[in-house]
Amino acid sequence: MNTDSQKTYILAIESSCDDTAAAVLQNDKVLSNVVANQAIHQEYGGVVPELASRAHQQNIVPVVTAALRKANIDKKQLSAIAFTSGPGLLGSLLVGTSFAKSFAMGLDIPLLDINHMKAHILAHFIDEEGYDKPSFPFIGVTISGGHTQIVRVDDYFEMEVIGETIDDAVGEAFDKSAKIMDLPYPGGPLIDKYAQLGDPKAFPFTKPKVDGLNFSFSGLKTQIMYFVQRQQEANPDFLKEHRDDVCASIQYTIVNILMDKIKKAVKETGITQIAIGGGVSANSGIRTALKKAETTHGWKTFLPKFQYTTDNAAMIGIVGYLKYKDLVEKDSFQNLEVSAQSRLKI
Ligand code: KG4
Ligand code: ZN
Repeated sequence: MNTDSQKTYILAIESSCDDTAAAVLQNDKVLSNVVANQAIHQEYGGVVPELASRAHQQNIVPVVTAALRKANIDKKQLSAIAFTSGPGLLGSLLVGTSFAKSFAMGLDIPLLDINHMKAHILAHFIDEEGYDKPSFPFIGVTISGGHTQIVRVDDYFEMEVIGETIDDAVGEAFDKSAKIMDLPYPGGPLIDKYAQLGDPKAFPFTKPKVDGLNFSFSGLKTQIMYFVQRQQEANPDFLKEHRDDVCASIQYTIVNILMDKIKKAVKETGITQIAIGGGVSANSGIRTALKKAETTHGWKTFLPKFQYTTDNAAMIGIVGYLKYKDLVEKDSFQNLEVSAQSRLKI
């Protein structure tokens, strides 16, 4: 076991959804970050779990090999293996879990099970030039295709979910709206692209009324669906003629829903540092709104580098490194009894 805390090499594996990813970190620095996206799901307009696990099986060895090669690290130099144990699709998680377990066993090094949602938040602790790290406490906002959560973060491993969606995730709201508009999956980035060309106030959509810091996005999706149907009945070319304005209006509404709850979380906790993570944190609308809040509200906001927004293994690696350091200090490594858990909570 490599216990030289000056140079810890972590191999990280992420396979919770439809991206097979591997990364190598030297302490908190990313040496390589490889992601194989699964184009197969585009044909079906969403992730098909059976196809995802089969693609993970095909991708995992080449992806891990590429990550080690790009990092210029021999597997014998590795200090530990970190992998996503949940939440996610069980079949997909199991591919990463069993690979990580056998690799760690073969190398006789520790295995670290990592929570995917915590990793989206802790990705901000990757050492990157030009990117500040938040200090504790801060508010983590995880916005992805599977989750929408507001998390109070008091320490690396002391987090509390203080708000979450009661139905669809925000990424789903983007993707389902895009589907209604006949845009290919995943439609979030396309809505973002076209929104930048349109008028955000062209078509006002109403925001849902949800108590506390929780979110709801399913009503918005239905509202958009009926709106588009109505408009198309009157003008079959409606989407062709107004695509950019519809996208801008959808994005404007979603960003406002998120910002309202973040403002409420700041008010309730008194914490003014906000760090976002997850695929939707790549969205230009939420990024602009948060940056603006630095001047209007005096917040400090942390926006992840683009390659650490959507699913990646570097974020699993940084949590692996933080956990490894903690375990070395406490001299208490876990055994290989860890397993995949599709509904793992923060
Ligand atoms: O974190 P992620 O890669 O996977 C999950 O853990 O779910 O997030 C994927 C989600 C998809 O719903 C995708 O449409 C959305 O992130 N997304 C975006 C943008 N880039 C990715 N949504 C809006 N604007 C974007 N620029
Ligand atoms: Zn994710």
